[in-house]
Amino acid sequence: MQLFLDTASVTEIRTMWETGILDGVTTNPTLVAKEGRTFESVLRDVCALGVPSVSAEVVAVDVDGMVREGRHLRGLHPSIYVKIPMTPAGLRATRLLSGEGTRVNMTLVFSANQALLAAKVGATYVSPFIGRLDDQGQDGIELVRDIVTIYRNYHVPTKVLVASVRHPIHVLEAAKIGADIATMPFAVMEKLAQHPLTDLGLARFLKDWEKVPKG
Ligand code: G3P
Repeated sequence: MQLFLDTASVTEIRTMWETGILDGVTTNPTLVAKEGRTFESVLRDVCALGVPSVSAEVVAVDVDGMVREGRHLRGLHPSIYVKIPMTPAGLRATRLLSGEGTRVNMTLVFSANQALLAAKVGATYVSPFIGRLDDQGQDGIELVRDIVTIYRNYHVPTKVLVASVRHPIHVLEAAKIGADIATMPFAVMEKLAQHPLTDLGLARFLKDWEKVPKG
């Protein structure tokens, strides 16, 4: 499974990129607003690191506006994937942009039927928001399971990008189901590498090493 960071912080992205575990980045207008920088300057910095997949969201809500913004974003760098919201206008815009060869990440997906439609219009990624479903008392992981099953049934090439990930169990469950990608905050990705027994074990090794005669 590919691991993406869900952030617009170039510092966070650079830190994870240098570890070698990062496969891509997703942004959204809320994340960009936290950075106090222009959207395009953030995108240029992230793409310059060499990150191969960088999702950038349109803010227009009409078809023409989405297509215009999508073409502009795609033109900024070959690594850009255009994020389009799951609305009737978004479906039409995705069909047009995908037909031109633009890779679209259909976002704000909360049902398996929406994911089925995203696939039909040629989306490259579909992004179910599982944490926000959990917040509503609906099991977000079950949605991932449904989408993966449906896509397998029909040999759909659209990749399932699990979004709104809140903790490592979300990542683990998504991987067990066979989702293609999970995008997560920096703090969640950091936790994937951590285990208290690793820390305890290392401390014991280093302490015992002090007893080994040196020379
Ligand atoms: O980028 C989309 C999604 O991952 C947002 O997550 O935590 O705001 O629901 P969250």
